[in-house]
Amino acid sequence: MADGSLDPQGPAAESMADLWWLMLSLGVAVFVIFAVVLAVGLFRRRPPEASEPGAEGPRRFHAWMIGAGVAGPLVIIAIVFGATVHAMRGIETTAPPGALVIDVVGHQWWWEVRYPEEGITAANEIHIPVGRPVALRLTSADVIHSFWVPALGGKLDMLPDHTNILVLEADEPGEHVSRCAEYCGLQHTLMTMVVVAEGEEQFASWVAARRQPAPEPADDTARRGRDVFIGTGGCASCHAVRGTTATGIVGPDLTHLASRSTLGAASIPNTPANRAEWVSDPHDLKRGVAMPAAELSPEDLAAVVAYLGSLR
Ligand code: CUA
Repeated sequence: MADGSLDPQGPAAESMADLWWLMLSLGVAVFVIFAVVLAVGLFRRRPPEASEPGAEGPRRFHAWMIGAGVAGPLVIIAIVFGATVHAMRGIETTAPPGALVIDVVGHQWWWEVRYPEEGITAANEIHIPVGRPVALRLTSADVIHSFWVPALGGKLDMLPDHTNILVLEADEPGEHVSRCAEYCGLQHTLMTMVVVAEGEEQFASWVAARRQPAPEPADDTARRGRDVFIGTGGCASCHAVRGTTATGIVGPDLTHLASRSTLGAASIPNTPANRAEWVSDPHDLKRGVAMPAAELSPEDLAAVVAYLGSLR
């Protein structure tokens, strides 16, 4: 998984990485010049006549003061300022025409993802087509979070009472990690997400599959799991599974849960064992999470896990 702002995978991240390298090279150059001048000053032998008072000393001192102390820093700051303004102007802050619009809502501690034009609701996993700008409309349902996919662009705050727009684009197919970049409580560290950049065709088939309601359970165990999920288990009061009577909005939409690669906001791999552990004791995996531990008989737990596994 490519993951880092110094391994840019899109135009916005690239301009920021270029700016970072420029600042690093200027900083290194200044440090090297400073170190050389300091070394020369420390180790050169004083000529015997230097102790004699004369006009040469003060004049050289003034030249150094004005050159290295005033003019040099001004030039360097002007270069960095110009490059920063240039990079900022190159980054879009409104949705460009033809952009894919995705609404992302931060929750403690997961990500709600909606594609308004495609009519899709997902969670903790964003799919985007390669080579097409994506306008993310960012907001929060509770505290301040911050959206950040280091490989694709800069971070932007997710505020409860305001929508910020972040425009990203991926140059190549790949999977990237997104992290919450604003401390938002106990599980801020485990507020992660997977961003999958894929070809237009793959993306279109992902969209088509996500638009479908949840598949009918194929066997008795999964059917029993669905009944527990909607009934006695109480899962449906927080989670939605499209195509069923489960329409909760407190927790992530689980319509296609089994097709996602992770659980718990990208904190653990989505395997049957982890699903069972998550349902029976989510606090063991992610302390402080809003989901209560389900009090289910072993048979009901196995049935719910089988049902969740059928939600492709
Ligand atoms: Cu959400 Cu930190």
